[in-house]
Amino acid sequence: MNLSEKITQLKKEKNAIILAHYYQIPEIQDIADYVGDSLGLSQKAAETDADIIVFAGVHFMAETAKILNPSKIVVLPDLNAGCSLADSCPPDEFEKFIKDNPGHTVITYVNCSAEVKALTDIVCTSSNALKIVESIPEDEPIIFAPDRNLGKYIMKKTGREMLLWDGSCVVHEAFCIDKLLDLYQKHPDALIIAHPESEEHILKTATYVGSTAGMINFVKEHPNDKFIVATEAGILHKMKQEVPEAELVPAPAQEDNTCACSECAYMKINTLQKLHDCLLYESPQIEVPEAIREKALIPIQRMLDLSLKV
Ligand code: 13P
Ligand code: SF4
Repeated sequence: MNLSEKITQLKKEKNAIILAHYYQIPEIQDIADYVGDSLGLSQKAAETDADIIVFAGVHFMAETAKILNPSKIVVLPDLNAGCSLADSCPPDEFEKFIKDNPGHTVITYVNCSAEVKALTDIVCTSSNALKIVESIPEDEPIIFAPDRNLGKYIMKKTGREMLLWDGSCVVHEAFCIDKLLDLYQKHPDALIIAHPESEEHILKTATYVGSTAGMINFVKEHPNDKFIVATEAGILHKMKQEVPEAELVPAPAQEDNTCACSECAYMKINTLQKLHDCLLYESPQIEVPEAIREKALIPIQRMLDLSLKV
């Protein structure tokens, strides 16, 4: 049996489900039961009746799954699969920031630790951030963390001031506007689409800004057949599968003169072998202290409830 066949067999024996993010390597995406964005993955994790959730993504995503479905075993192929954005918001500093700015509703982007979520009023993802912010009465001041780029984008869309935490994603901040404009000159018939973790000057050039799932849907539904894609390059695998006829050009990163693409080192730390081993040995498991879990669940559940409303 090859590795993929062994994983499929183990999955059956152990009643496990494999959830994978769009930035995972193609082999992992292809063996997953569900591939999605942060919102879709947390919805799947909340509703699954599998005994084991194998989370092929990064730590905050697996942690969110455990918070939502604590009776399940949640395993991550590699515990070092972190996130620069989550790391940019240490819980003790964030707690002080909230105390120093009293009277604010605290909205945090899901890319943060369980401890930070426990300090939060409502969580959001890139696919529902606008809706979540718009759900807060206009006279209520808002703290938005940890992504300053998503925060600025939402401020621009809503015309509403928010107090922003100064965090960012290393991958999305690596896109180079000069190289992007040069690329666009070579492909003037392409539409630029971008993830809102990208900087303002990149987002200004984009016809569509949205979550990874939103970007895939846009490419599926738009009659244009060429797109410049400004997010982590792993998304191209699913996009190509969904829209084989489209020409997809990865947006160029600053330091990159070779492959012209951006990769998240944290997402790419997971391999098929590690995925097999974590399922076989049921390790490493994600654990969240119960006191933190109970507090973090409230803002995540609020987000899920609001996401269901039309
Ligand atoms: P999505 O929720 O859009 O998939 O984003 C997750 C992420 O980490 C983007 O860098
Ligand atoms: Fe975190 Fe950025 Fe990697 Fe997404 S792409 S997991 S935000 S470091």
